[in-house]
Amino acid sequence: MTYKVAVVGATGNVGREMLAVLDQRAFPAHEVVALASTSSIGSEVSFGERNLKVKALDYFDFSDTDIVLMSAGSAVAKTWAPKIAAQGAIVIDNSSAWRMDRDVPLVVPEVNADALRGIKKGIVANPNCSTIQLVVVLKPLNDAAKIKRVVVSTYQSVSGAGKDAMDELFRQTRAVFVADPVEVEHFTKQIAYNVIPHIDDFLDSGLTKEEWKMMVETQKILDPDIQLTATCVRVPVFVGHSEAVTVEFEQPLTAERARQILRAAPGVLVVDKREDGGYVTPIECVGEDATFVSRIRKDPTVEHGLSLWIVADNLRKGAALNAVQIAECLINRKLLKRAAA
Ligand SMILES: NC(=O)c1ccc[n+]([C@@H]2O[C@H](COP(=O)([O-])OP(=O)(O)OC[C@H]3O[C@@H](n4cnc5c(N)ncnc54)[C@H](OP(=O)(O)O)[C@@H]3O)[C@@H](O)[C@H]2O)c1
Repeated sequence: MTYKVAVVGATGNVGREMLAVLDQRAFPAHEVVALASTSSIGSEVSFGERNLKVKALDYFDFSDTDIVLMSAGSAVAKTWAPKIAAQGAIVIDNSSAWRMDRDVPLVVPEVNADALRGIKKGIVANPNCSTIQLVVVLKPLNDAAKIKRVVVSTYQSVSGAGKDAMDELFRQTRAVFVADPVEVEHFTKQIAYNVIPHIDDFLDSGLTKEEWKMMVETQKILDPDIQLTATCVRVPVFVGHSEAVTVEFEQPLTAERARQILRAAPGVLVVDKREDGGYVTPIECVGEDATFVSRIRKDPTVEHGLSLWIVADNLRKGAALNAVQIAECLINRKLLKRAAA
């Protein structure tokens, strides 16, 4: 059985990675279509050895498409996901538009694939990139010792803000280097040689929306009782999000036991040598599928606490890979509305 797959946002950071992941995993597709805005009509994107001509989302007929991987922002997802689902395809959306809808499963396959049983609107949501890598690691620890509270600080790469943000880091870095004036367009302050404690809009509570998303998405995916507070920071790294995480448990859990549990956990790779260089940094996770965990150690300030360092490729596990894994789950569990060819 093979399927017709459309990638919406195929010219973007996540869309291009989706095409790469579909090819690398030999996804059972008899046809893959690349869609973007009307301004990209006729441009080409790579799909394995081939180039695909980009078509416009606005004029595309989805009536014989099985799976739509969407990464074109919230506004596009709000309008288009229901229209596409009404034509019979299942939409896996990367934006925040549908994540907290009660009738839309929010899924990380290693953590809560069973939530796919409840697809009511024909839409499945891919969580925020920082949430995905966090819950992949928290899930097996929660199963072992029940998590009470999580404190997380993120170090998020500019690719999480799209291709224009990557260009801005590149331009600013070059401008500083050659002593040209630094122009700020995409971010609120200079990102080159700097860090910015602000991702997404500010809420009345003082949290940013990115921090709020990490809290509510973790509760929806993993456990509504988990208390989580986050500080989300943009750093001048092109690809790869890092997180410094402190977890308080209800039951005892030693660092050694956590290391054993995480070594056996799906999608997790432990690199924790407690010596110079014996940990993972974002540069080493680029292009990798795993979520890496390092620096696992006791938090001596609470009775049952651990601190850890978590790193993943935000374009892969944080977005494209997770979306393709959801599509694979839909196929394996025979949850697609129709199956072509
Ligand atoms: N980057 C990450 O780590 C990450 C992780 C998780 C989720 N996400 C989410 O994924 C989405 C895309 O992120 P990105 O980083 O790939 O952004 P990006 O690099 O800026 O790409 C945006 C894509 O959306 C397309 N698009 C924009 N407006 C459109 C329209 N009206 N109709 C059709 N296509 C349209 C663009 O096409 P044109 O080139 O034609 O404009 C482009 O292909 C966002 O919702 C983001 O929040 C990103």
